Amino acid sequence: MSSPLRISIAKANLATATRLAALGRQTFTETFAASNTPDNLAAYLAEAYGPDIQLAQLQDPDCTCLLADMQGQTVGYALVQENSTLGLPEGAPAARQLEIKQLYVVEDWIGTGLGKALMRRALDIAQASQATAVVLGVWEHNTRAQAFYQRFGFREVGEVAFKLGEDVQRDLIYRKGLAGRAS
Ligand SMILES: CC(C)(COP(=O)(O)OP(=O)(O)OC[C@H]1O[C@@H](n2cnc3c(N)ncnc32)[C@H](O)[C@@H]1OP(=O)(O)O)[C@@H](O)C(=O)NCCC(=O)NCCS
Repeated sequence: MSSPLRISIAKANLATATRLAALGRQTFTETFAASNTPDNLAAYLAEAYGPDIQLAQLQDPDCTCLLADMQGQTVGYALVQENSTLGLPEGAPAARQLEIKQLYVVEDWIGTGLGKALMRRALDIAQASQATAVVLGVWEHNTRAQAFYQRFGFREVGEVAFKLGEDVQRDLIYRKGLAGRAS
């Protein structure tokens, strides 16, 4: 029997952007509401999620958004960006690295393999591009995600500030070199 999981590349249209904005707001809230103040969370949600914001991401030629659908419902997504500057010195030119900017699974579906499926597709995109490495930022206290990334061979290489409302947090930069590519 074929798997009911379907991973597809999101289309760059307003309907998809609207759906993605709601999914992003939901999953970010599920993940981080308990560890932040309501004001800081609300400020971040307002600046990070909205149909126009997600539409701009979908239309960015460097970005690809992957949607994970189960039983006709989108229950996870990943946003990746080629030519990322994450972890590079200020002012450095964009490098041949792909950044996983967002990777989220709806709470009820966590631990059921969707994260792994999304990650595999993101790594396929990286392999198909000219990228020599995959990078991402993860909150220093998000140990569940850190353990997940480590299982895929990511290693901590630095840190970067992440502003959530008024709160400046510490994200760890994780990196995975791609086999056979000079980096
Ligand atoms: C991080 C996240 C995307 C992982 O997705 P997931 O669907 O839960 O992970 P999967 O079920 O695909 O697990 C894949 C593998 O990682 C392992 N894994 C998952 N969570 C793990 C954990 N906390 N510790 C160790 N291993 C873990 C699983 O056991 C599985 O291994 P297996 O294939 O050998 O069985 C998901 O937990 C999530 O959405 N978390 C909330 C949002 C978040 O923190 N995003 C990252 C922001 S940087």
